[in-house]
Amino acid sequence: MRLLVVNMKAYENAFGPGARELAREASRVEGVRVILAAPALVALKIAEIHPDVYVQHVDAVGYGAFTGFLPPEALRAEGIRGALVNHSEHKVRLKELAELIPRARELGLEVLACADTPAEASALAALSPYAIAVEPPELIGTGISVSKARPEVIEGAVRAVRRIAEIPVLAGAGISSGEDARRAVELGASGVLVASMVMKAKSPREKLRELAEALA
Ligand code: G3P
Repeated sequence: MRLLVVNMKAYENAFGPGARELAREASRVEGVRVILAAPALVALKIAEIHPDVYVQHVDAVGYGAFTGFLPPEALRAEGIRGALVNHSEHKVRLKELAELIPRARELGLEVLACADTPAEASALAALSPYAIAVEPPELIGTGISVSKARPEVIEGAVRAVRRIAEIPVLAGAGISSGEDARRAVELGASGVLVASMVMKAKSPREKLRELAEALA
């Protein structure tokens, strides 16, 4: 089944009634796995409506005196399925990822690791995350889709990751229609990672459906 990951970022709709409405819509989608990457503050609340929820970052710390940090153990204790890590808006050093990703896996958590380039995707593949998303940072939030503007980045990342392991590769940055998502899959992606198309839409519901139909 293809993956549709919505990075809710810190858009207004990622909090309060907008977040709950999005979770209700996500729970109605069929034929595609919809994962909501939510702010930690709302993850638990929306997981009651749509259980497929990740947080947008998790820290390479354990339980203890770590003010403001979120250990992977806490996700497991609270029943959150996984985490997105190393987004270009929240980079993590490779050394920390090398500690964090295997630990999260041992705890039974899914990690979606983001890469800016095929070379970074290849380095992340060696750590065996659940999935990898490739996103050219310069296209994020522009509405200029990676699948149209930089198709070689998707193809390159899929090739680079496959050389190392069978890990699903998602494409993201600028995806703004079902057609963009379909094109990403034609280029070898197992799904897409989107944000503004859904989170800034007048009707997030319609955009979610458009993407789900394109990927189903
Ligand atoms: O994590 C997804 C994101 O960075 C892509 O953003 O707004 O271009 O879909 P956007």
